[in-house]
Amino acid sequence: MWIATLSSSEVGRDRPLGVKRLNMNLVFWRDKSGKVNALLDDCPHRHAKLSLGKVVDGNIQCPYHGFEFDGSGRTVKIPALGKASEVPKYLRAFSIPTYETYDIIWIWYGNGDLSKPPRFFDDLDELSTYSEYSEVWSVSLPRAVENQLDVFHLPFVHYNTIGRGGKTLVHGPLVRLIDEHSFIIYPFNEVDRGQRLLRSNQIDASKLKNYLWFIYPNIWENYISRNMRIIAFFAPIDSGSTKIYIRLYMKAAGIRTIDKVITKLLMPLNVYVLHQDRRVVLTQPNDIKHDKLIHADYPIALYRRMYLRDKELNKLLNNATTVTQSLNMKKWF
Ligand code: FES
Ligand SMILES: [Fe+2]
Repeated sequence: MWIATLSSSEVGRDRPLGVKRLNMNLVFWRDKSGKVNALLDDCPHRHAKLSLGKVVDGNIQCPYHGFEFDGSGRTVKIPALGKASEVPKYLRAFSIPTYETYDIIWIWYGNGDLSKPPRFFDDLDELSTYSEYSEVWSVSLPRAVENQLDVFHLPFVHYNTIGRGGKTLVHGPLVRLIDEHSFIIYPFNEVDRGQRLLRSNQIDASKLKNYLWFIYPNIWENYISRNMRIIAFFAPIDSGSTKIYIRLYMKAAGIRTIDKVITKLLMPLNVYVLHQDRRVVLTQPNDIKHDKLIHADYPIALYRRMYLRDKELNKLLNNATTVTQSLNMKKWF
């Protein structure tokens, strides 16, 4: 399965980038055509970090003895052997498949059809202008994701921003399951005047304009209006830290440069709201087992079912020693 891990802007042309994702130290770089490659950040020779090396002719060169590897992990050069000798085949770096689209770099883990591109939101097409902000939270992936699927923390955590108005009563929640990896939530909250709580089938969905769309394993959209969306993705670093990327997509004036300025100007408000979340979410333990959920947690329960069934991701995040098995190494070569 593809998982969103980096913003395209983080991987430049000249220098390799060493980052931790899915509990693995990885090195990313672009080859001559601009394609992003990823290897375990671990030279197969004597295990120096490749990310300290250089990009040479589109390959990554180890900083220690200058061995060069291409994006598939093949050793293409061993300087000490000289040009006249052949490079032995047993020396391979460990390659991780990558995919770049929508200015996001995905990497592959576990099973599935590698030839299918990663899924993204198909309602975004006209809104190509965005600004981005990212930061690392010391929380597990589920805690970071669930915070954004939570439809009833707003009047408390965001009482003076997006949760103004004290709408504490949570109807439904109305959730449309798209398939086994995706769902849409239509939040419907009201001020509690003693009225009856509505079940999801008693809610008139046609009146609800705002929705949250989640695609497993880690991308999220908040549909604010036709011309404004917030997209987030949650890149798992290890079992207890996650990098959160937020993008504000807009079509305001319809002129890219102006829209870009507007999204930049509005970003501090989004960051303020994000930090209201962070203050609380950072106090939650990483272990989700002991939570006791209520009706309004239904979207969170749906997400957990997907996450807990995903054995490969759980293994990667919670048991670093099985990394290479979970990556399903055989299929790639
Ligand atoms: S450790 Fe990388 S070339 Fe020797
Ligand atoms: Fe929030």
